[in-house]
Amino acid sequence: MIKNSNGNNFSVLKNITDCHTHILPSIDDGPSDADVSRQMIDSLLLQGAAAAILTPHFYPHETNINDFLFLRNESYKILTENLKTDLKLILGSEAFFCINFEHFDNIGSLCIEGTDLILFEIPFPDSMTAKILKQVEKFLSMHNYTPIIAHIDRYPFFNTKNIHILHEFIDMGCLLQMGTAPLKEKGTAKFAVNLVKEGLISFIGSDCHNIKYRTPDIADAYKVLTDKFGISETQKFIDNSNRILGVS
Ligand SMILES: [Fe+2]
Repeated sequence: MIKNSNGNNFSVLKNITDCHTHILPSIDDGPSDADVSRQMIDSLLLQGAAAAILTPHFYPHETNINDFLFLRNESYKILTENLKTDLKLILGSEAFFCINFEHFDNIGSLCIEGTDLILFEIPFPDSMTAKILKQVEKFLSMHNYTPIIAHIDRYPFFNTKNIHILHEFIDMGCLLQMGTAPLKEKGTAKFAVNLVKEGLISFIGSDCHNIKYRTPDIADAYKVLTDKFGISETQKFIDNSNRILGVS
């Protein structure tokens, strides 16, 4: 049973996966200690989540892949030591997609555990979008990994006039992840719901960083979807996300 932010039960959606989280402690701008991480995990469980993809930031201009993996493993050890939880925790990353990314060694280790899916945060300036599209195309010509474009709602092109950009990413072989916020906000809800309806969105993720202002808030967003599409159709969306992720 899912509870929304007001503590009210509202649906019986099952097996929700939060596909984008900064739950791992002391590795990026997420929680600084494991106590907060555990509160985030408890919050997701309370809202009906069954799994979370752990996607700490990987910034190639700050570190290299091997050092990142070492820190991620250390953080995971700290989090899971004596942790008893029903939330399935799956390792991944949020890799900042930069020029020459396609030439890095060991890119596959950044993928979501057990998949060929790699979550890309692309540069934010609108002026770079055309260049990034070409760069992603080049990446795809060299690798068999499937990019998931993270939090597409946070880019300037997230509007009805530029929907062709979302299609361009999909047409070249990318999948799109949307945050929970645009589903809940009046100004964006209609557009966000329509993207789900049109099948452009494969994943929804909270992009949670803490328990104060970037929270693991998923229930209210799924309530918007169940209100619009009904429980059965929303469950199909969740099941399809899990199928792609290989989450059972
Ligand atoms: Fe993120």
